[in-house]
Amino acid sequence: MPEKQGYPKIAIDGPAGAGKSTVTREVSRRLALKYLDTGAMYRAITLKFIYENTELSDLKSIEEILNRTEVRLSDRQEVFLDGTNVTGDIRSADVNRLVSPVSAISPVRLRLVEMQRTIAKESNGIVMEGRDIASRVIPDADFKFYLDASIQERARRRRKEQLEKGIEMTEDEVIEEIKNRDFIDSGREDSPLTMVSDAIVIDTTDMAFEAVVDKIISIVKSKVS
Ligand code: DC
Repeated sequence: MPEKQGYPKIAIDGPAGAGKSTVTREVSRRLALKYLDTGAMYRAITLKFIYENTELSDLKSIEEILNRTEVRLSDRQEVFLDGTNVTGDIRSADVNRLVSPVSAISPVRLRLVEMQRTIAKESNGIVMEGRDIASRVIPDADFKFYLDASIQERARRRRKEQLEKGIEMTEDEVIEEIKNRDFIDSGREDSPLTMVSDAIVIDTTDMAFEAVVDKIISIVKSKVS
């Protein structure tokens, strides 16, 4: 890869529980780059559909709702839905259950991918995390990372996260939920979770989060002057 000047665009893709959010936040902080959690945008739209009791097969209503819905993320990744701060609400069990089916709906993706591309274009460098960042949102990214981990480790992290929020789940329940999400996110027709051929793959199963961050930073710094 040629030497990059200044403000890199960094894509971080991977399945749920691979450690993307924590890693992306810290990478963006250390490199002083903007951070965009695209999953939070799909979660906000899911919340809107829950509020409106939307039938997910009713594409006409979905288009109509999308036309009057505003999703905005602050620099600190606080999420605003039609002006209301829903940062906590988008992590609810109902949203967890519905976000994969919602994010498989093409008009939803079309709208959010367009917003994500505009944000990337208007930023002086960015770190974006999601499922289709390198394959669809910014295929011209300077760095494309794909984080992965074993299903047991992803389930362990997810269970811990839920426990911290006071939600108790058995290991089997978490594994089931993750497998279900993987199945929908990887199997959908419109821009599924993809590992692009030029991705740098990092298996985070046995790595501390700081080690993953250090690895990404050292790769970026070795190529950016
Ligand atoms: O990263 P997360 O768990 O907050 O993402 C929630 C869901 O959003 C995930 O199950 C799939 C979807 N998603 C997507 O389809 N494309 C993205 N770029 C990011 C998330």
